[in-house]
Amino acid sequence: MISNKILLTSSGSYLPNNIYSNDALSEFIDTSDEWISKRSGIKNRHFVSKNETTSDLALYAALKAIENSTLDKDDINLIIVATTTPDNTFPSTATMVQKKLDIKGAAFDIQAVCAGFVFALSVAKSLMKDNNYKNCLVIGADSMSKLLDWKDRSTAVLFGDGAGAVILENKENIDNKLDDWGILSNVIHSDGEYYDLLKTNGGVSTDQKIGFIEMAGKEIFKHAVEKLSLSFQEALKLSYKNIKQIDWLIPHQANQRILLAVADRLKIDPVKVISTVMHHGNTSAASIPLALDYAINNNKVINGNLIGFQAIGGGLSWGASVVRYGKP
Ligand code: ACO
Repeated sequence: MISNKILLTSSGSYLPNNIYSNDALSEFIDTSDEWISKRSGIKNRHFVSKNETTSDLALYAALKAIENSTLDKDDINLIIVATTTPDNTFPSTATMVQKKLDIKGAAFDIQAVCAGFVFALSVAKSLMKDNNYKNCLVIGADSMSKLLDWKDRSTAVLFGDGAGAVILENKENIDNKLDDWGILSNVIHSDGEYYDLLKTNGGVSTDQKIGFIEMAGKEIFKHAVEKLSLSFQEALKLSYKNIKQIDWLIPHQANQRILLAVADRLKIDPVKVISTVMHHGNTSAASIPLALDYAINNNKVINGNLIGFQAIGGGLSWGASVVRYGKP
């Protein structure tokens, strides 16, 4: 029997036009470029304009990913949007993207906060294999600016808005030619014991509000370094690869100090770690596909490269993937 492989063949991304530098923020909250840069590596973030929604960001990223592929939009029959900031409480943002793209198939959202993209990849791979979806858009899109409490400078300076998308293609592995291509491994984990470390202080069934972000920064930092390192080692093992074979590590872009600490633990050269956090801050589920698209557009990631994804977010939820990008 011929098995199928799920290839990651294209990407696209979108950042809204309004750019706020650290200096711009320090005009209305008590902070400084020096504090933000030193603690997080962030220099700028992009915020949605008044009438721009998460599905708009997702749509623009998706259109770019389709344009960069060999597919037509009607070839796509599965859309998964990882988001924490949907347009409406329901229906899913994915169905709004489907409507805007004017295509058919299945569409739904995934909520794993900053880990949403790796969760979505994992779910997409399983669904495509089990139900034979042909082509899938996996989108990470968030408008985190809507959840910021400008009275809390320790969180407000860290986040931004944006979207990234990838296209997954379901291909028959004839003569085992695709054995070493596409999504080679996925691991996802959650531990609700840490629910309170990073959350909004409100919600639909709690107080009918959306709430603002609350974070225990120092604890999150420690969990991030430990869990990102361990889960990536797990993903490597599952894919029968070792760290030396990884061409590019593309972590969730939350904080440059976390990226460097994880690189150190994994013993990977920091030049192989894609970092875009300075340009857009923490864009939650959007950050990995944004960084991937940046790396492809800047001729870092090329067809056939072995890449690693890793992310952690509220829940806590975290995970990692090893992927051979492109197609033979
Ligand atoms: N500007 C200036 N000063 C500030 C700011 C700010 N924006 N925010 C806090 N401070 C002050 C604090 O009030 C405190 O002052 P004090 O010593 O007079 O009380 C001082 O800076 C130090 O505050 P700490 O909270 O101890 O700062 P820390 O060194 O822990 O850095 C940070 C805070 C950047 C949040 C850090 O803990 C961190 O990076 N945590 C990881 C969090 C993260 O990346 N989360 C993203 C979401 S989860 C994820 O995606 C992985």
